[in-house]
Amino acid sequence: MTLQPIFDAIERSAHRIRDAITNEDLCYADQCNATGDTQLKLDIQSDLIIAEEFSKITAIKAIASEEKEEAETLHAEGRYMIAYDPLDGSSLIDVNLSVGSIFGIYDGAFEASKMVASVYVVYGPRLELVTAYKGSVRHFIFRHGRFDEQETITLKEKGKLNAPGGTQQHWPAHHKAMVDGLFSEGYRLRYSGGMVPDLHQILLKGGGLFSYPGTTDKPEGKLRKLFEVFPFAFVYETAGGEAINHEGRRLLELPCNDPHETTPCFFGSKYEIAKVKEAYGV
Ligand code: F6P
Repeated sequence: MTLQPIFDAIERSAHRIRDAITNEDLCYADQCNATGDTQLKLDIQSDLIIAEEFSKITAIKAIASEEKEEAETLHAEGRYMIAYDPLDGSSLIDVNLSVGSIFGIYDGAFEASKMVASVYVVYGPRLELVTAYKGSVRHFIFRHGRFDEQETITLKEKGKLNAPGGTQQHWPAHHKAMVDGLFSEGYRLRYSGGMVPDLHQILLKGGGLFSYPGTTDKPEGKLRKLFEVFPFAFVYETAGGEAINHEGRRLLELPCNDPHETTPCFFGSKYEIAKVKEAYGV
C-alpha cells in the first residue's frame, strides 16, 4: 500500500499552516497542552488543520497529537497510525524564527519498531518538506507553486556543527565535557531552540551533533518520544547517521508507554555519536 495519499495530506496541511502563520494573530490560548506547554492559538489551529486533512484518508486508523491528551481513532478499518507535533517550536514565531511540523507514520501500532516513514515540514524563509521512507531521505523545496525535489539527504561520517539543548546550569558534568570537547575540536555552535530547523541544518550541512540530555531539573529530558524523538531518529538513521539515548541505546528501540513520554536524545553523524558514547561511558 502506498503512503502517497498521506504525504499529499501533509503537503496540503503544510500550505494551510504556512498561510495561518503568515496571517493569523499569535495570541496565547487559555490552556496548556498535555505536556504543560502554554498553547498558542496557532498550535490549536495547526492541530485542527492536520486532523481535518488526515480524516479524509481512509488508510489512517488513528492519530495522536502533541496538542491532545489521548490518541483518536479516525477510521477503524485503516492501517496506519500517525503521531504528530503540529507546530514545534511555535513560541519562536513571535521573533520570526523558523518552526516546523513533525510526523511519525506507524504500521498498526505506536511503537518505534513499527515506524514506516517520517516527515517534517520547515516553515522558514522558504517552505520545505523532508520525507524518510524506503531507505532514502528526500528533500523538497516549495518554489513556483510546487514542491521541487532536491538531492537526497545523506550524512557524512563527521560534521562541523554542535547544537546542545537544555540549560547548561543543569547539564551533568560529563555532558558538558563532551560538548566542550567538540567545541575544542573546532565545532561551531548552531542552536535556534527549534528542533526542526536545528536538526534540518545539521542534515543539510552534512553532519554534527544535536543533543538534549537528561538534566538535574528534567532527568528524562524534554523532547517527546512519539512526537519529536522517534520521527527524527528515523530520519537520521535513514540518512546514514545515528540516534541514541544516554545509555547508548538506539532511540528506535525504546518503549513508549505514554504518548507524552520524553527521553534524553542525541542525533548525529557517526563520529559525534561515538564521542557521546565515550563521554557517557556506554
Ligand atoms: O519541544 C519544543 C522545543 O522548542 C524544541 O523544538 C526544541 O529543540 C526545544 O524545545 C528547545 O528547548 P531548550 O530551549 O530547553 O533548549
